[in-house]
Amino acid sequence: MQSLDEIDRLASVRRSVRAFKPDPVPQDIIKRVLDITLATPSNCNVQPWHIHIVSGDALQRLSKAMLEQARAGLTPDHDIPEAGPYPGRFRERQIDAAKRLFAATGVAREDIAARTASILRNYVFFDAPHLALFCVPDWAGERELADCGQAMQSLMFALTAAGLGSCPQGAAGGYAATTHRILGIPADQRILAGISFGYADPDHPSAGVKPPRASVEEMVDFHE
Ligand SMILES: Cc1cc2nc3c(=O)[nH]c(=O)nc-3n(C[C@H](O)[C@H](O)[C@H](O)COP(=O)(O)O)c2cc1C
Repeated sequence: MQSLDEIDRLASVRRSVRAFKPDPVPQDIIKRVLDITLATPSNCNVQPWHIHIVSGDALQRLSKAMLEQARAGLTPDHDIPEAGPYPGRFRERQIDAAKRLFAATGVAREDIAARTASILRNYVFFDAPHLALFCVPDWAGERELADCGQAMQSLMFALTAAGLGSCPQGAAGGYAATTHRILGIPADQRILAGISFGYADPDHPSAGVKPPRASVEEMVDFHE
């Protein structure tokens, strides 16, 4: 059984990694973290997720096709539409997180080219050697999306415990029609998001970025 301190350490060590080393992760480790991921609970135990692990040539092909569309200025077509624009304090948090990343990586506010290049790094999956694409069945509702989100968190914790880095990427679900075609993902699976993973590059300037979280006092009401 994990101690609270260990879980605490896992939660604080995990961060969104936006620079990876090229080394592939051994297959037995990938299999182990996936076994852990699949222990995730879900409504009525229906397990409404399907995971595609994309590596090697397939990842290169996917990246190339996404980059082409992004560079051409095409709007990403998501199977599951993005929310937004975010209102009020949610927007403030979004801006704060982006500012921290741009400041750490030396991207000036007015440097549109550098900002675009930073965003385009989503489509090379931050140079990660692997991408886990999370899909839900086409009948899935909001509860099943929540279940799938939990499975994503399980994978990220398992990867962290294995000494690996990860980045959850809504952007990996953009250009969904292309992804369905390239990977042969059937139409009855809807792409929710991806998690790029591999060995983190600890020397990259983005490595120190960890946006703060709101406190228990702000986020939680206790009723007795
Ligand atoms: C579902 C989901 C989608 C995300 N999509 C992206 C993305 O497309 N690109 C990106 O750079 N970060 C993405 N993030 C990472 C968030 O920006 C990050 O989790 C947040 O800023 C908190 O930072 P931390 O993960 O380092 O604690 C996503 C996170 C989640 C949970």
